[in-house]
Amino acid sequence: MRTEICERLGIEFPLFAFTHCRDVAAAVSNSGGLGVLGAVGFSAEQLEVELTWLDEHVNGIYGVDLVIPSKYEGKGIDGLSPEQLEAELAKNVPQQHRDFAARLLSDHGVPELPEDEHHAQLLGWTATTVAPQIEVILRHPKAKLVANALGTPPPDVVAQIQESGRLIGALCGSVKHALNHKNAGLDFVVCQGTEGGGHCGEVSSMVLWPQVIDAIGDMPVLAAGGIGDGRQVAAALAMGAQGAWTGSLWLTVEEANVPPAQMQTYIDATSHDTVRSRSWTGKPCRMLKNDWTDAWERDDTPNPLPMPLQMMVALDGVKRGHRYPEQAKDVNFNPVGQVVGMMTKVERTADVMQRLIEEYVESCERLNKLNGA
Ligand SMILES: Cc1cc2nc3c(=O)[nH]c(=O)nc-3n(C[C@H](O)[C@H](O)[C@H](O)COP(=O)(O)O)c2cc1C
Repeated sequence: MRTEICERLGIEFPLFAFTHCRDVAAAVSNSGGLGVLGAVGFSAEQLEVELTWLDEHVNGIYGVDLVIPSKYEGKGIDGLSPEQLEAELAKNVPQQHRDFAARLLSDHGVPELPEDEHHAQLLGWTATTVAPQIEVILRHPKAKLVANALGTPPPDVVAQIQESGRLIGALCGSVKHALNHKNAGLDFVVCQGTEGGGHCGEVSSMVLWPQVIDAIGDMPVLAAGGIGDGRQVAAALAMGAQGAWTGSLWLTVEEANVPPAQMQTYIDATSHDTVRSRSWTGKPCRMLKNDWTDAWERDDTPNPLPMPLQMMVALDGVKRGHRYPEQAKDVNFNPVGQVVGMMTKVERTADVMQRLIEEYVESCERLNKLNGA
């Protein structure tokens, strides 16, 4: 199971776990895989706290995931602080959108946040908000891998990360994006099929993985989108991927900081219950379909705004959903992939890792038997 990228990183298993939760990231890394912490929701100050915690709790190494999209509203506005950029972009958010989102939440009885719980509106998905996050990463030697979502990272970022001795890669949902990553000199590509949770393209993993593997030659490809057990890990490696990159799976582990009511929603959901929707982030993102996603689809309602403006409208809903998950049940942000139908019980992270490895070995034995070995 030890592939070339495992050798380069010094990890035991080619199992990569994207998560927003440091406890999950640490448990994956300490089980021989690589936990990758999603930074998008953290300010640079908060990220410093998270990575310091990871340094103390991870025996080996971990990764960090950034979001510098290739296209977003406000791209090219330079020289502003994150706060100034937020104020500038806020001018482009129509009041109609804010009112519509607020009404959806209040009509569903979702309480407002307490007065003193103000939060920034602009998450870490602009070059301006990511720059201070990169400075934080470079201060943490165990943060050995950086991945970027939604586009090829800019050349200065690639150089900065590689010169520091870290690997940098990026997600892709098409052959074209994978080739862009290769041409930019990245170290690896995460190839995510449409069934995956979060932002995704339109082509399924079974069809996309081999095309991307063929297109980018000897550059390592980590297969993502729809992996819920070791049989799928075996399939990915059989196709020539150097590892399996998972996300949804870690929403229903004991260590996840997902509120119990929301975790139950994931446990109850089937593979038919997800939709690709722009209604939270402004770009197509796979999540559970509910009253919120339906409401933004209707002809008589506002159309979602481009990234990052839609989340400036919707973030209040994310925060209220996290705090009051029972009341927000029908309008909560539940990003997850179709593999949610395989997530039927809460497990410990280390047990999921063990299960993935055992199922992988069983799959290989099944094939060996077919080959008379
Ligand atoms: C809740 C959630 C949030 C995600 N957020 C990000 C993100 O911020 N950055 C990123 O690169 N990928 C993100 N992803 C995608 C994952 O990195 C991963 O590619 C995907 O989950 C793989 O498909 P799977 O969900 O079927 O395992 C997210 C996925 C989920 C489920």
